[in-house]
Amino acid sequence: MPDQTARQIAPARGKLGVLTVGLGAVATTFIAGVENIRRGASKPIGSLTQMGTIRLGKRTDGRAPLISEFVPLANLSEIVFGAWDPVPDNAYEAALLCGVLDKHEHIEPIADFLKGIAPMPAVFDQAYVKRLEGKNVKSGKNKRELAEQLRKDIRDFKAKHGCDRLVMVWCASTEVFIAPGPAHQTLESFERAMDANDPAIAPSMLYAWASIMEGVPFANGAPNLSCDFPAMEQLARDKGVAIGGKDFKTGQTMLKTVLSPMFKARMLGVAGWYSTNILGNRDGEVLDDPESFKTKEESKLGVLEHILQPHLYPELYGEMYHKVRINYYPPRGDNKEGWDNIDIFGWLGYPMQIKVDFLCRDSILAAPLVLDLALFFDLAQRAGLSGIQEWLSLYFKSPQVAPGLYPEHDLFIQLTKLKNTLRWMQGEEQITHLGIEYYQEQ
Ligand SMILES: NC(=O)c1ccc[n+]([C@@H]2O[C@H](COP(=O)([O-])OP(=O)(O)OC[C@H]3O[C@@H](n4cnc5c(N)ncnc54)[C@H](O)[C@@H]3O)[C@@H](O)[C@H]2O)c1
Repeated sequence: MPDQTARQIAPARGKLGVLTVGLGAVATTFIAGVENIRRGASKPIGSLTQMGTIRLGKRTDGRAPLISEFVPLANLSEIVFGAWDPVPDNAYEAALLCGVLDKHEHIEPIADFLKGIAPMPAVFDQAYVKRLEGKNVKSGKNKRELAEQLRKDIRDFKAKHGCDRLVMVWCASTEVFIAPGPAHQTLESFERAMDANDPAIAPSMLYAWASIMEGVPFANGAPNLSCDFPAMEQLARDKGVAIGGKDFKTGQTMLKTVLSPMFKARMLGVAGWYSTNILGNRDGEVLDDPESFKTKEESKLGVLEHILQPHLYPELYGEMYHKVRINYYPPRGDNKEGWDNIDIFGWLGYPMQIKVDFLCRDSILAAPLVLDLALFFDLAQRAGLSGIQEWLSLYFKSPQVAPGLYPEHDLFIQLTKLKNTLRWMQGEEQITHLGIEYYQEQ
């Protein structure tokens, strides 16, 4: 039985424009995937919004509707796509180049559709992504002017395609590491820094600023700061816009956030965790630059510390050695191999080892996350939720949280949080898993 009043959620009426920053492997696999699914040629495997159910009420009630029937999500048929990229290739050319999807099965049948998606000129600066060169790039007298051009692109796209609403998802390259500094503290300092072309303002921040200023929710799929600092959080709250990030949680880190809670649940110690990856796509090439890798490394390293809580369990995790490596290895393309060697110890300190070898496909794992994020951020916006959307941390390696909070990394806590948020939106009872009512008289 509903235990509270449902939130007011505006209906998902009209077209939803999904703007991706970047039209590379992840973005094209997402776009081509959605189009194949819309045409009935494939199934939306990996997408919680399309395939997931949600239990409501007691276990004995037998109520488990599809999430898409429980909350008002945009329908796939109502989505239109737009993108920015410094590489001028359209979505057809980019999808072929990335080599993720089968040309004959998933690209050629929708070639005309993909050719119709050409990237808008990007705000791009090689100082922030050393291994890329851009030709399809905007110019302007300063960073504010560039960001204003992005705002115009957003407005023009919305008008041209007759969209009711938009969302923006960062699917572009990982930028060099930037620590939050004075320019990121207040909106005034941020805007001054844009005017002064301050190097502390990366292109991804300009997209985030433009998106929020236009009232468009912004989700950050890379580990760049982008919208993860006080000035942008304030702006998002002031403008009533949903934001969140960072860095899609797809492969090795997803496994980490499943395995490490298991060790902690059983009070097993971890002496060391060595993770290495080989991948040969453009992302791998960009991450071969030490400055971009540092941004990624920071995002990947935080997970274990937060889940295992060595300050609470010094005998189990206080001495843990954690290392993450990414190696660019062209022959593998998008098909990444992620190895983990985990040295654990049990009763009386006896050592054991676990080896994980995940032969995955990076963009196949990431594409459904882009879809879910686009639909859930649009839902959040229509439900009047603004600022950081922590309930969507299921999708991120390095979830953005309110100041003073540590992030929840455990995948199943994140899933519970997400589903409880949906229940809360619709005025349904929270599921705490207490279950005492099945055994005791109330
Ligand atoms: N499993 C995954 O695939 C996964 C997981 C987590 C995070 N990510 C992140 O997602 C992002 C995209 O990954 P990918 O494999 O598609 O990479 P990719 O290199 O194939 O695509 C990125 C695209 O972004 C473009 N780009 C770079 N700077 C830009 C800018 N300022 N504006 C607009 N476009 C810009 C590049 O030209 C490129 O086409 C990367 O940052 C990656 O680290 C991917």
